[in-house]
Amino acid sequence: MPLVEKAGLAKRRQELLGQVSGRVLEIGAGTGFNLPYYPENVQLVAVEPNLDMLKILRARAAGRNIQIIEGSIGDLSSSGISLHSFDFVVTTLVLCSVPDMDEALQTISTLLAPGGKFIFIEHVVTPGVYERVQNLATPLWKRMAGGCHLNRDLLGSLDHSQMVVTTLFRFNFPLGGPLIPHGIMGTARLKSDFFV
Ligand SMILES: C[S@@+](CC[C@H](N)C(=O)[O-])C[C@H]1O[C@@H](n2cnc3c(N)ncnc32)[C@H](O)[C@@H]1O
Repeated sequence: MPLVEKAGLAKRRQELLGQVSGRVLEIGAGTGFNLPYYPENVQLVAVEPNLDMLKILRARAAGRNIQIIEGSIGDLSSSGISLHSFDFVVTTLVLCSVPDMDEALQTISTLLAPGGKFIFIEHVVTPGVYERVQNLATPLWKRMAGGCHLNRDLLGSLDHSQMVVTTLFRFNFPLGGPLIPHGIMGTARLKSDFFV
C-alpha cells in the first residue's frame, strides 16, 4: 500500500477529503490511511470491522477527536448510529469487499442527512478485454485479498440506488496493472434532494 499511496493514491485521497465538513462517517476505515487528509474541524466517525486494522486505526487516531466504532456496514443501521444524520459518508476501496454492494448503498442512503454527500474512491469493472481478465481472476483474488471483487459495477449499482451520481472522475489506478486498471472518484447525492 505505501507504494500505491506514493504512486498517486494519496493525492486522490487528499482531493476527495479536502472537501468534507460537518458530520462525517467513514465506512471501512482500515488502518487509517485517510486520517491525515480530513480537515481538523470535522466530526469524524470511523467504522472498521477488522480487529487487526482497528488496532492500528485507533493508534493513528490517538489524540484526535475521532469516534471509532468496531463494525461492518451491515451492522450500522442497528448500531445506534443516527440515521439521516451525516453530511458526508466516505468509502475508499471498500465496496469491492462488502458482501452485497446494493445493500451497502441502501444503508449509505439511510445514513445521509438531507443534502448530504456520499463520496468515494473505488476500483470498478473496466469494460472490454480487462473485464474478461477481471472476471477470470476474481474467484482466486477474492480468496487472497479479503473478499475483494475486481469486477464490481459500482456506477450500475448507484443507478439503481436511492442516490444519483453528481460528480465523477476516472483515473488510472496507481500500480493497478491489468487487474485494477481504473479507479473512480466521485460524489452521489440522495435522489430525494432533487425529486419529490
Ligand atoms: C482495501 S481496504 C481499504 C481500507 C481503507 N478504506 C483505505 O482506503 O485504506 C478494505 C477495507 O474494507 C473493510 N471492509 C470489508 N468488508 C466490510 C464491511 N462489510 N463493512 C465495512 N468495512 C468492510 C475492510 O475491513 C478494510 O478495512
